[in-house]
Amino acid sequence: MTEQALCQKAIDMLDMAYVPYSHFPVGAALLCRDGTVFTGCNIENAAYGATICAERTAIFKAVSEGHRDFVRIVIAGKSEDYCVPCGSCRQVMMEFAPEMEVICLNGKGEAKHYTLRQLLPESFGPEYL
Ligand code: THU
Repeated sequence: MTEQALCQKAIDMLDMAYVPYSHFPVGAALLCRDGTVFTGCNIENAAYGATICAERTAIFKAVSEGHRDFVRIVIAGKSEDYCVPCGSCRQVMMEFAPEMEVICLNGKGEAKHYTLRQLLPESFGPEYL
């Protein structure tokens, strides 16, 4: 799948976000090495701590379907800022695909490209255990 198509999938997921508390929708689209794509959105909860981010929704969907080898993830927001992943999502990405690419979109659909290594340097991972 082209980068542009993956970005569009992340943007489309903004409509699925369940965000009655923050009103901050996030969409994600995750490309696996075999070409499979998993999408996700953030899903909030009245017990705020039970909220899950869009990226982890997509990653957990993938892992639960037997996919762990990720090439890139696109994260879409609606605000002026580029929607960067939170620390917990960075850590979850690192568990499975330390070399993956992270593409962050702002509300205009403009993209910033990172490697996960850039976003989470000196990270703790499975190799420590
Ligand atoms: N959120 C994500 O979905 N991904 C991130 O990496 C940052 C935060 C969501 C969680 C919550 O529903 C809302 O954005 C505000 O924090």
